[in-house]
Amino acid sequence: MGDKNGWDQSQLRKYDIPLDEIPRLDVNDPLVDKYISENKPVVITGTNLVGSAEKWDLEYLEKHMGVADHTVFLSRNHKFKYFDDKKVPHGANEGKIDFTPPTRRLDMKFPEFCRRLKDWKRGEERMYLQQALNSSVGQAIVHDFLNFNWDWINSKQKKNGWGPLTSNLLLISMEGNVTPCHYDEQQNFFAQIKGYKRCILFPPEQFECFYPYPVYHPHDRQSQVDFERPDYSRFPKLREAHGQEAILGPGDVLYIPIYWWHHVESLMRGGYTVSVNFWFKAGPTGQITYPLKGHQKVAVMRNVEKMLIEALQNTQEVGPLLRALVLGRYTD
Ligand code: SIN
Ligand code: FE
Repeated sequence: MGDKNGWDQSQLRKYDIPLDEIPRLDVNDPLVDKYISENKPVVITGTNLVGSAEKWDLEYLEKHMGVADHTVFLSRNHKFKYFDDKKVPHGANEGKIDFTPPTRRLDMKFPEFCRRLKDWKRGEERMYLQQALNSSVGQAIVHDFLNFNWDWINSKQKKNGWGPLTSNLLLISMEGNVTPCHYDEQQNFFAQIKGYKRCILFPPEQFECFYPYPVYHPHDRQSQVDFERPDYSRFPKLREAHGQEAILGPGDVLYIPIYWWHHVESLMRGGYTVSVNFWFKAGPTGQITYPLKGHQKVAVMRNVEKMLIEALQNTQEVGPLLRALVLGRYTD
């Protein structure tokens, strides 16, 4: 990977994890379908998926995003770790789990977001706009949206038996922002529009390496591991992690398979970035073969956790019960 594409190595954060490159293939390469059907990541070039959004710089978006409020996250550092508001404990449960919101959410109109970006100074809270594309956007954006290459993406959805498109998230990030390692429960075509993002992925088979928070925790689906300050005594299996990475530039589309771990960073000193996510529900499972695949086992584990949470009605009893179940019986 090199600087001829508009970025250089010094713009990448440094992590102590071995990484290979995610294959980069032309849209017409027959291997693209092979990767997608096998739930393996691939960068696809030449799709024209979001060609109509090539012009989505801040000036254009400010003019056309409409007058509605947009969701902006603010962080005191460069990390934007997602949390589920619905899982934040309230009332009697407050303080029962270790949780402090790492970011705060502020709804603002697009011109205010642009003004804050222009006025931003080092040391101030960083910003990351994450807004679903919905009917509140102006006419010009609707027009561009309708001109996305729906033929291409719909054909991929059909060919792979995926469920419906659930949402498109517009992501506008400051340079250097990081979305820490997590997995999603949907298939994702991640389309880069402006600037460069580095995506680091790991297969669901490496579940043990990333120590996700419990399902009931607001950070469900997020890794507890901090790539920048890895605590190998708490998380020894992190040493066995082995990932794949890609730098996405304008026009690139990355397939992020369902349940794959991903960490995303907007390159340092690269200016702001604009991306759009296309999330699809998984398709019906069809014929199951054994042994189960990594992502199916993650789904099973999630269900076991959910069942215990439901049965015990007290999240603090889940760990002790699991230990009683396993220790000396399923451990060597
Ligand atoms: C990001 O682009 O910062 C995160 C996207 C994702 O997690 O799907
Ligand atoms: Fe994600």
